[in-house]
Amino acid sequence: MPARPVAAVPFLPWNRPSIGPEEEAEVLDTLRSGWLTHGPKATRFEEAVREALGAQDAFAVSSCTAAVHLALLAARIGPGDEVITPSLTFCAVPNAVVQCGAAPVFADIDQVTFNLDPAAAEAAITPRTKAIAVMHYAGQPCDLAAFRKLADDHQLLLIEDAAHALHAWRDGARAGSVGDLTVFSFYANKVITCGEGGLLAGRGDLVEQARLLGRHGIDSSAWRRHGERRTAEYDVAVPGLKYTMPDITAAVGLRQWAKLADFTAARARIADAYDRSLAGLPGLRLPTVLEEVRHGWFLYPVLIDPVRGRTRDTVADALRDVHGIGTSVHFKPVHRLAAYRNPETYLPVTEQVAARELSLPCYPAMTAADVQRVIDAVHTLWR
Ligand SMILES: Cc1ncc(COP(=O)(O)O)c(C=O)c1O
Repeated sequence: MPARPVAAVPFLPWNRPSIGPEEEAEVLDTLRSGWLTHGPKATRFEEAVREALGAQDAFAVSSCTAAVHLALLAARIGPGDEVITPSLTFCAVPNAVVQCGAAPVFADIDQVTFNLDPAAAEAAITPRTKAIAVMHYAGQPCDLAAFRKLADDHQLLLIEDAAHALHAWRDGARAGSVGDLTVFSFYANKVITCGEGGLLAGRGDLVEQARLLGRHGIDSSAWRRHGERRTAEYDVAVPGLKYTMPDITAAVGLRQWAKLADFTAARARIADAYDRSLAGLPGLRLPTVLEEVRHGWFLYPVLIDPVRGRTRDTVADALRDVHGIGTSVHFKPVHRLAAYRNPETYLPVTEQVAARELSLPCYPAMTAADVQRVIDAVHTLWR
């Protein structure tokens, strides 16, 4: 492995959270309040997101994966059922589908946005299909209107995995506001973070059921039970799980939520700088943003054509080893992972994109000098 020559320059990670004194003060306030688990702050966080989406209800949970699991359980998706999903995504949705005893069915993506292709999803519908779980790749919402119509025409549940798209729109509709249920992630690298955390929003009947399932099947919160001193008066209506978001976490989430628009604006400025400075390099395809989209810019994904020994992997290695710059890959397709390998799965666009995709650093904590450093490094590699 070549040595990194510029020891004086610190490594620029692919991602770093932006946590300030506001988050620190809010957590301290929670720690001193005497109420640490899901309580007033988690409820305020839920209400803020619910209102922004115009959703009927919202439930703050321990992770996006927990939100997906609860969504599927609340919708009674189980053995014999199928859920259509892209393969160019994180494993959370397919894993949760399998955990419910159902089967994920992978459909191909479109060439431009790398989102699930509505025509491919339609072709994958069978009498067993119960839901379509779309994912807004990189923060560019999928064709929400097309998927809403497809779900309605076939009486399927539409789930939005909006882990990348807390602050993004398409045709005026906010990502997360169209599906029957939507899940968000507040994992450490996401557009806003609580370290670990997630949220489920959408139809009131389904979120209510998910809330019940996510609190052991107990039909009132610990906050209400203990706060109103009715500790003994609880019952378990259904065998549930424990997926609630604690207030320590929600304290961070609330303060991050207040910064979301600024964070997205900062990400958009970085994307714009990359667009202007990296355009025209041969074999380097920059992201295409559809006219009807307000992009959330969780990722800045480029495609690198394998030409004359330069591949996605050689570029990633050189950026890391020579220039001290971290990158990431989104994603290794799920149908290529050991648990999901199936020789019959044929997803040509997914394969083509997955072999070429590299995510450049794009986050609010980057300085203008950091952005320029990435641009200069890429130009050096293309010389
Ligand atoms: C598209 C997508 N969905 C779901 C998740 C899972 O999120 P969490 O770690 O909050 O469970 C991730 C996490 O990276 C993701 O990228």
